[in-house]
Amino acid sequence: MFNHLQGVPADPLLKLITQYAQDENIDKVDLGVGVYKDELGNTPIMQAVTAAEIIILDKQKTKTYIGPAGSQLYCERSAELLFGENHSVIKDRRLSIAQTPGGCGALRMAAEFINFCAAGAKVWVSTPTWVNHIPLLTEAGLVLAEYPYYDNQTKSVDFGGMLEALETAKEGDLVLLHGCCHNPSGADLNPEQWQQLTNLIVAKDLIPFIDIAYQGLGDGLDEDAYGLRLMAERVPEMIVASSCSKNFGLYRERTGTVVIISSNSQRASICTSQLFSTIRGHYSMPPAHGAAIVETILDDNLLKAQWLNELTTMRLRLSDNRAALVDAIKSAGVTEDFSFINSEKGMFSFLGINPTQVTRLKDDYSIYMAGSSRINIAGIAQHNVQYVANAIAKVISSQ
Ligand code: LMR
Repeated sequence: MFNHLQGVPADPLLKLITQYAQDENIDKVDLGVGVYKDELGNTPIMQAVTAAEIIILDKQKTKTYIGPAGSQLYCERSAELLFGENHSVIKDRRLSIAQTPGGCGALRMAAEFINFCAAGAKVWVSTPTWVNHIPLLTEAGLVLAEYPYYDNQTKSVDFGGMLEALETAKEGDLVLLHGCCHNPSGADLNPEQWQQLTNLIVAKDLIPFIDIAYQGLGDGLDEDAYGLRLMAERVPEMIVASSCSKNFGLYRERTGTVVIISSNSQRASICTSQLFSTIRGHYSMPPAHGAAIVETILDDNLLKAQWLNELTTMRLRLSDNRAALVDAIKSAGVTEDFSFINSEKGMFSFLGINPTQVTRLKDDYSIYMAGSSRINIAGIAQHNVQYVANAIAKVISSQ
């Protein structure tokens, strides 16, 4: 049965983790996979998370099965985080929610659910989008179409091109949007653009499918959910996949949420039963620990305040790193304008250099980034920023 299998190359992004670990250069810099790092290059456990784990260890009485939705308290707190406590979709009971194994679990269960509702449904994805969106959606049976998003020339969102492409979408098509901190470009829609896009989605009866994996790391928890909350108010049906990997630092605990919004509460309860059946047929029920941490934090005012403080520190560090990198590139003598990095949000930006230059940064300077020149802004630190900028200046000037 297995004899015909061909080897599959390792995921290029995840491969960077191994390559970086094996590099013995003491000046090496990891700007690869999207994990938050502090000034020392560590990805520490948030203090609110550790405090919650102590409480969980003390209070948890059983590890018996919990059901396909996971923890109800987690689902409720997650919905409040996403939509805001008083959002009409919560009050009108239009939500079907489940705790999932990470944001990927949420995306995949959403994709399986969509494919069950409408086999081979079309999902419009941004060009570019997060690489793993493609297998997560297509392997569930969905068909992808692309809308232009990031313009490599202007270093900003090609909003006109995006609207023009979506004008050709058909009723019932889904539009995958990054709620904030677009991965890989860091270029986000502004509120006016979200409003225009919402008008188009409503007018054409399209279904928004929002992936929000970085809430709190762009402009703030509420600000980052602006587009999601706006669309949820305006459309009858919508899908959301969220992740606690980045904003709670729970990467390996695999904690996310899938939300289906239906047009009314009766339809929502039917959708809920179907969503749970989809989950049961895939992994039966989600792992508990990460969600227990999140609900413990969000349900306790002191812990929540501590978490918010830590999240704010992370967000500010990312924007400080952006400014420091732009300044350092300038002082390294680069004449091209890199200030677009300052107006982008969250963990990522493209440097906009070519693949040969990316390879030279890795081979000659041990600076690791995705082949697309996407950098993880969190990997920049005071001690390495000028080294990175000087290396960028060198590879730009020699090609
Ligand atoms: C990234 O884009 O680097 C992260 O979301 C990690 C991943 O799984 O790709």
